[in-house]
Amino acid sequence: MPDLLAQLESLAEGARRAVEAARDERALEDLRVRTLGKKGELSAVLRGMGQLPPEERPKVGEVANRVRDEVETLLARGQERIARERLEADLQGPPIDVTLPGRRLLPRGHRHPVSRAMEDITSIFVRLGYEVAAGPEIEHDWFNFEALNIPPDHPARDMQDTFYVDDAGLRGGGKGGVLLRTHTSPIQIRAMKRAGRPPVRVVAPGRVYRSDYDQTHSPMFHQVEGFAVDQGITFADLRGTLAAFARAFFGPETRTRFRPSYFPFVEPGAEVDVSCSICGGTGQKEGRRCGACKGTGWLEVLGAGMVHPKVLENVGFEPGKVTGFAFGMGVERMAMLRHGIDDLRLFFDNDLRFLEQF
Ligand code: DAH
Repeated sequence: MPDLLAQLESLAEGARRAVEAARDERALEDLRVRTLGKKGELSAVLRGMGQLPPEERPKVGEVANRVRDEVETLLARGQERIARERLEADLQGPPIDVTLPGRRLLPRGHRHPVSRAMEDITSIFVRLGYEVAAGPEIEHDWFNFEALNIPPDHPARDMQDTFYVDDAGLRGGGKGGVLLRTHTSPIQIRAMKRAGRPPVRVVAPGRVYRSDYDQTHSPMFHQVEGFAVDQGITFADLRGTLAAFARAFFGPETRTRFRPSYFPFVEPGAEVDVSCSICGGTGQKEGRRCGACKGTGWLEVLGAGMVHPKVLENVGFEPGKVTGFAFGMGVERMAMLRHGIDDLRLFFDNDLRFLEQF
């Protein structure tokens, strides 16, 4: 028996020294397996108890239990000490470099191509000195149509297939209708009324709604409207502004051309084309007809014109004293032209295989 007791004592003594010497959790774990494990030193001693006369067994058993408790306590304290030492060392060490790039655990998402196009367009005009404005998506007939010189039974209403919330304006031929705005042009009216007097220079991005659905139309889409009203603004200002915009958005080589067109809220009105960004305006791509511009070398990108005197009157501005220009463009179309996408509906399918390409 003295033999086994001496073994237990030396086991405990060995553990005390080993815990003190341990510098990391790994060393403690090795010690735990070596002493308390199934094939460890303590088990070996306990197995030896079988050889002892029965009356000596309780004493050895008692000492063995005490040694096990002691080793467990030693291990727990050792763990605390190591954790404390590590913390101290970290605090003493060089400070964390917060300027290091982060380690990404989850893949990072990115902006939707339509959002990107809309932000890019908006910020080009912000750099030109325009203020950003917004308006409601559920709009009064008066702002969406009438104030823009589109009266209730005017054929120009047919240019936009409208979702009416309340078609009172149409039925009675009077006021009061409510609808999902069909374009961002009503923000012209709101911004001019809010400003009260010129100068007003505003860019207005937003969602618009029309009862349309095909390869190049969806019932919800985005537009950016812009306009500038002040004394002495001319068509030349409009041309210069849109030429600068086209170069900034499509690239420095981009050319611009204006074709006469009709929009009730401008006079004169124009449709604006830019030289095709896909074929560089040649109409040819890799020896074949360019699909983006159908071989013409030109892409139609927006509507524009000089603000109609009636519109100025409707917001209380004096048409004799001030002039202005306005323009509006479809954001999905701009993103399609920029990336060479041929079906607008892809933007709204939310198929990651499509979206991750941009
Ligand atoms: N609001 C027109 C549309 O949605 C686009 C437009 C054309 C806006 C000419 C304008 C403009 O400001 O001058 O079809």
